Amino acid sequence: HAGGLDFAVADINGHEAGRKDIRLAENEMPGLIDLRREYSEAKPLHGARIAGSLHMTTQTAVLIETLVSLGAQVRWVSCNIFSTQDDSAAAAVVGPNGTPENPQGVPVFAWKGETLEDYWWCTEQLFKFTDENGKIVGPNMILDDGGDATLLVHKGVEFEQTGVVPTFEDDDLTVSDEERVVFDTLRRSLAEDPQRWTTINSDIRGVTEETTTGVNRLYQLAEQGKLLFPAINVNDSVTKSKFDNKYGIRHSLLDGLNRATDVLIGGKVAVVAGYGDVGKGCAEALAGQGARVLVSEVDPICALQALLEGFQVARIEDVIHTADVVITTTGNKDIITTELMQKMKHQAILANVGHFDNEIDMAGLGRIQGIRKNNIKPQVDEWIFPDGHTILVLSEGRLMNLGNATGHPSFVMSNSFANQTIAQIELFTKHDEYNNEVYRLPKHLDEKVAKVHVLALGGELTKLTKDQAEYIGVDVEGPYKPEHYRY
Ligand code: NAI
Repeated sequence: HAGGLDFAVADINGHEAGRKDIRLAENEMPGLIDLRREYSEAKPLHGARIAGSLHMTTQTAVLIETLVSLGAQVRWVSCNIFSTQDDSAAAAVVGPNGTPENPQGVPVFAWKGETLEDYWWCTEQLFKFTDENGKIVGPNMILDDGGDATLLVHKGVEFEQTGVVPTFEDDDLTVSDEERVVFDTLRRSLAEDPQRWTTINSDIRGVTEETTTGVNRLYQLAEQGKLLFPAINVNDSVTKSKFDNKYGIRHSLLDGLNRATDVLIGGKVAVVAGYGDVGKGCAEALAGQGARVLVSEVDPICALQALLEGFQVARIEDVIHTADVVITTTGNKDIITTELMQKMKHQAILANVGHFDNEIDMAGLGRIQGIRKNNIKPQVDEWIFPDGHTILVLSEGRLMNLGNATGHPSFVMSNSFANQTIAQIELFTKHDEYNNEVYRLPKHLDEKVAKVHVLALGGELTKLTKDQAEYIGVDVEGPYKPEHYRY
């Protein structure tokens, strides 16, 4: 606590360094700065209490300060134990005009290198706003990346309805350490207040979700009729997934590999599991460095795309022994099993950029008889197999572009976060018009986000004549494509 603000960051004195990064990032985030300009008077988020669970980076600090300038109250956590940039977290707490003794920013609960217990403790803190009478109240909006904040509310409500939180046997290998921590958190909560999550849920107007994995979770809940509030799928705005997922990772994958190991990529064999938006960015980046890239895919359409880009498509079990670098990008589980890891070359690099760490069987790796772990530096571990050969695992199998580096650069995140801000305004101000389903933002807003960034890069857009617009069946001012167009 300081100056009436509660928070938990690594070192509040990092705020000056963080502020310098934020100031430089603002110039690279025209989408957010434009929204600040457009809405600074109207303050459409006045009254919004936003619980944000999204990597606490410099770019996120610019998003947070945009939401605040639009009138919102905000509490924030990272959605990954390794992704926080500590200086930026401190700067977000102190705010542009505060001091460490009298912080004027927002309550942030995030630091690089949280334990799973820390992580879920932080996530719980999201739900503790204070109203004008000093009473603890929940948020009325969630801004999620991967769906952990949304999950806590949904599981909390489910357990409150049944009145019990299931327990697991200690040796039940089907239950992850993370699930155990979540269930413990909710068991404690149920004992303290059997209506906590039900009360919190009753205030929530909606969630805006950042990433593919979180969006998949939301669609699954909606299909089962279990979604508790309306959701906007920000990921599938074209200016999000076709830019952040692809061009963002094209930058931050190499950044992570270089900072972690500094091995020359040129001439090496790289295997990329999954050739969706993220896989495409990874493959392009690795090929750009001169690696020979192989792709594994289940979807023949994505596999064909990979082939036509010149990448060999193969089953991972047939080629993993040739790989110097293996990157998982599927958003699916059990991609790299311990059996596959044992086949990898000496000192080959294994890393994941999909949202969760279950793409690589880290728990299984730790259980191999006679295996040893040698920590090289933070987020870089050499695992030594009983036969003496080793592999390098980055960020313990979690998002390495955020664990080993600083995530995607500002300009691409400006696109994603402009969509996030617009989605928050939409759901906060018009929640009555939405059902408990998953929605996407309309195309004219996607085009609006793109246009700001085209102009910022000095691009000149061609204008349609009225005659041309009629001929192709669109409006002169857009939208320029039908919904079914795939870009
Ligand atoms: P996507 O759905 O476009 O691509 C995933 C691809 O993996 C699909 O083409 C799918 O067919 C393939 N796949 C699924 N199971 C497979 C298997 N067993 N073997 C081989 N391929 C398989 O999803 P997108 O947008 O590329 O996202 C992928 C993951 O990355 C998600 O978890 C997402 O949340 C995360 N993400 C991470 C970012 C980062 O900064 N590291 C940024 C954006 C997304």
